[in-house]
Amino acid sequence: MAKKITFLGIETSCDETAAAVIRENDKGTAEILSNVVSSQIEEHKKFGGVVPELAARAHLENIEFIIDRALKESKISINEMDGVAATAGPGLIVCLTVGLNIGKAIAVSSDKPFIGVNHLEGHALSPGLEKKIEFPYLLLLISGGHTQFLIVKDVNEYEQLGTTIDDALGEAFDKTAKILNLGYPGGACVEKFAKLGDKNFFKLPEPIINKAGCNLSFAGLKTAVLRESKKIYGKDKLKYDLAASFQNTINKILYKKTKVAVEEFRKKTRKENFQLVVAGGVAANETIRKNLSNLSNEMNFKTLYPDLKFCGDNAAMIAWAGIQRFKKNMIDNVNVSAKSRWPLDKNAPYMKGPGLKL
Ligand code: KG4
Ligand code: ZN
Repeated sequence: MAKKITFLGIETSCDETAAAVIRENDKGTAEILSNVVSSQIEEHKKFGGVVPELAARAHLENIEFIIDRALKESKISINEMDGVAATAGPGLIVCLTVGLNIGKAIAVSSDKPFIGVNHLEGHALSPGLEKKIEFPYLLLLISGGHTQFLIVKDVNEYEQLGTTIDDALGEAFDKTAKILNLGYPGGACVEKFAKLGDKNFFKLPEPIINKAGCNLSFAGLKTAVLRESKKIYGKDKLKYDLAASFQNTINKILYKKTKVAVEEFRKKTRKENFQLVVAGGVAANETIRKNLSNLSNEMNFKTLYPDLKFCGDNAAMIAWAGIQRFKKNMIDNVNVSAKSRWPLDKNAPYMKGPGLKL
């Protein structure tokens, strides 16, 4: 029987300090030997967002303990591993460096291969932890820093179909939560309070809904939320109506733009039966899952959502991406450095800032 590949994964790109030990199983999916995530919610709560220096300090304080716990829970010693993978980008450099350096140190001292993983590839391949999934598939990656439609052709092979031209979707949720004072972390709080509101009460803009292919824009929506919020100060019912209307508008935008992305995916791959994978922190949102499942019924494709514990940042997906790259002999040396920007599709046009044409 072939040896089952086992990796230690480390993730510190933003505000979660995480370590996991993952082993490939007979079904070609993952055996989760441990998956430890320490969230920094309390550190950032009073600021309503991630403060890079505080995040880096918290990573430094926790990382050794978290790795130690992941190793102990897995009951696997570092010598029994096939390699070490740590997130090398994109993200906050001061944060990335903490996990990257300790990952390299463990790999060098135990004479194991080291892989610097793209955090976005971690999210992109994360459904494979639980389910064997056939390439190519369509990925909607929705997180705090990214919002993209991509064709996932293979490990390390991505074609971007569309992206946000301004704010990321998670960022729009977080800013809305902050404007409406709904609590932290933002996305989950908006979803919770939206349940108490009337989603049709406010008519909010749907930026670039009918142009620019499957590119997206959320900045105008956020500004509209800010404008409306000033008129409803102190009225909780209207606040919940606004949260619900914001979420409903997001769903209308995602419905339309995913429809365009599906058409483009079919045209480019000639694959009628395929899977839409929705990954990243925002994929935890139940209304978004329901909305895209409705679209999948209408357009006859399948949807796949990672389990909630693999939607938000975690190290299981980093170890898993490490295993997939290891199997293709994509091994890094320890000179690999942290990158704040690292697109999955190197040929994709940069869509933000001056010169943008829609
Ligand atoms: O993937 P992730 O954990 O970190 C990044 O790579 O950015 O995504 C974090 C984002 C945050 O913006 C958070 O507010 C959002 O995911 N999020 C949600 C929900 N849970 C987390 N957004 C909407 N609804 C949710 N239930
Ligand atoms: Zn993420």
